Amino acid sequence: MNIGFIGGGTMAEAILGGMLDGGVAAAADVMIGEPVPGRRDYLAERYGVGVSDSNGPVVSASEMVVMAVKPQDLPKVYADIGGRLQDGQSIMSIVAGAKMKSLSDGMRHDGIIRAMPNTPAQIGEGMTMWTCASSVSATHRETTSAILSTIGDEIYVDDEKYLDMATALSASGPAYVFLIVEALIDAGVYVGLPRDVSRRMVLQTVKGSVALVSETGRHPGELRDMVTSPGGTTAEALLTLEHAGVPAALVDAVKVAHLKSIRLGQD
Ligand SMILES: NC(=O)c1ccc[n+]([C@@H]2O[C@H](COP(=O)([O-])OP(=O)(O)OC[C@H]3O[C@@H](n4cnc5c(N)ncnc54)[C@H](OP(=O)(O)O)[C@@H]3O)[C@@H](O)[C@H]2O)c1
Repeated sequence: MNIGFIGGGTMAEAILGGMLDGGVAAAADVMIGEPVPGRRDYLAERYGVGVSDSNGPVVSASEMVVMAVKPQDLPKVYADIGGRLQDGQSIMSIVAGAKMKSLSDGMRHDGIIRAMPNTPAQIGEGMTMWTCASSVSATHRETTSAILSTIGDEIYVDDEKYLDMATALSASGPAYVFLIVEALIDAGVYVGLPRDVSRRMVLQTVKGSVALVSETGRHPGELRDMVTSPGGTTAEALLTLEHAGVPAALVDAVKVAHLKSIRLGQD
């Protein structure tokens, strides 16, 4: 399938790289519309894809168009290519906060797919939730699933409301994890470890713990109990985390991010 990109930035490159590595599309079948000359040259040279300084040729050449511009650039894109897509073409938007209805109104087209990826997509470890309009064909749904699975895990939902939840949990999620990782590295330094050693220990501990939950399929609480000896060091630390309200604060953080995402979508 011929695939086009409107915007050739960080997320577009992540999807492009995954798609080509995963064999979902060949470089010759991809065209990217991107205003920055240096960026166009880089993408053409690095990936061998077609590039254009305007979006019209991208729309004409592509069965599926990936919309990967910042939210504030959407009105310009609507003015540029709104009404230019034909039946049988579809648009996959990854633009944060842009709802199916506004994308469909702006593009004057009903073949809309909306996806919410996250930054680990850049290394093929992303989490993407997506939905699409009922008019999107089975072939385009399969292609969407195939593209998104090359940048990590993907989940299809049939109700757009879940994308506000994905925004709060998986799209903002890396920031929560980075905050915890940074604090643990600092903690290692506080108790006397060299920073590089602390960093290495924290990264492997987080990676190993996530893999243990995933591979054993056990409840995280059960695995936590297995680390916690009666009267031991872990029990002491866990009590401090409970007293500080850490579990409740994480729930509150996701709750307020969810409400904010809903509010932004209403503006
Ligand atoms: N990063 C994430 O984790 C994440 C997660 C979920 C969703 N998203 C969404 O993904 C989208 C892209 O994010 P990003 O981080 O990849 O942004 P980015 O690196 O800024 O990429 C956007 C690119 O589009 C170009 N552009 C601007 N106006 C254009 C136009 N009219 N036609 C064609 N191209 C145009 C920009 O050029 P200029 O530099 O000249 O503006 C830039 O190169 C955003 O809407 C973001 O909300 C990102």
